[in-house]
Amino acid sequence: MEKEVGKMLMVVVVLICAVVVVLPEVGATRWIVGGNMGWTTNVNYTVWAQDKHFYNGDWLFFVYDRNQMNVLEVNKTDYESCNADNPLQNWTRGAGRDVAPLNVTRNYYYISGKGFCFGGMKLAVHVENLPPPPSASPLNEKSASPTSIYGGVQYVLPAVFAIGTIWAAFIQYR
Ligand SMILES: *[C@@H]1O[C@H](CO)[C@@H](O)[C@H](O)[C@H]1NC(C)=O
Ligand SMILES: *[C@@H]1O[C@H](CO)[C@@H](O)[C@H](O)[C@H]1NC(C)=O
Ligand SMILES: *[C@@H]1O[C@H](CO)[C@@H](O)[C@H](O)[C@H]1NC(C)=O
Ligand SMILES: *[C@@H]1O[C@H](CO)[C@@H](O)[C@H](O)[C@H]1NC(C)=O
Repeated sequence: MEKEVGKMLMVVVVLICAVVVVLPEVGATRWIVGGNMGWTTNVNYTVWAQDKHFYNGDWLFFVYDRNQMNVLEVNKTDYESCNADNPLQNWTRGAGRDVAPLNVTRNYYYISGKGFCFGGMKLAVHVENLPPPPSASPLNEKSASPTSIYGGVQYVLPAVFAIGTIWAAFIQYR
């Protein structure tokens, strides 16, 4: 009997491994705003953003000179007019390394205060819902996040245990 249980556990473990390996790499992306340039002057962030797809669950990572710039999320009007007086969110934490979550499907607007917005330090991103798995194949700039992999396992595990149970019954009665 103990041997049977061991056998079944083995089967389940093997199945889990197989399934985890097969899982497509669906992951959230942490975008470094401006790429190698970071969050600074003399970058056109409209151009930077225009060929990218931002999905619900991604993050923006602002890397910049903490002594000069900051990161403020504003509404569309204030983005267009570079008004830093009523930010929706102040993501500035003081280290020049700020993360802003894109967790709602909508448009997000960011500017740097301290006058830099007028020189072009402004970013608008359109956040979309993640497309269904087949078209969600990761691009080179994507990095998988562990959370979304576990999110996948959440749905897969019950299926694995169901298969394991059927298998065990099969072994027992053959
Ligand atoms: C943005 O906020 C300002 C000030 O609170 C307000 O006057 C303006 O109507 C807002 N614009 C949008 C698009 O919500
Ligand atoms: C944003 O938050 C930082 C850190 O708390 C603070 O030093 C800064 O004054 C704030 N800026 C604005 C525009 O609210
Ligand atoms: C999105 O993230 C912000 C900031 O962390 C948080 O305040 C908000 O509750 C989140 N919204 C959703 C829908 O998860
Ligand atoms: C950025 O590029 C876009 C598209 O080429 C252009 O319309 C826009 O004026 C530029 N923005 C700045 C601040 O130069």
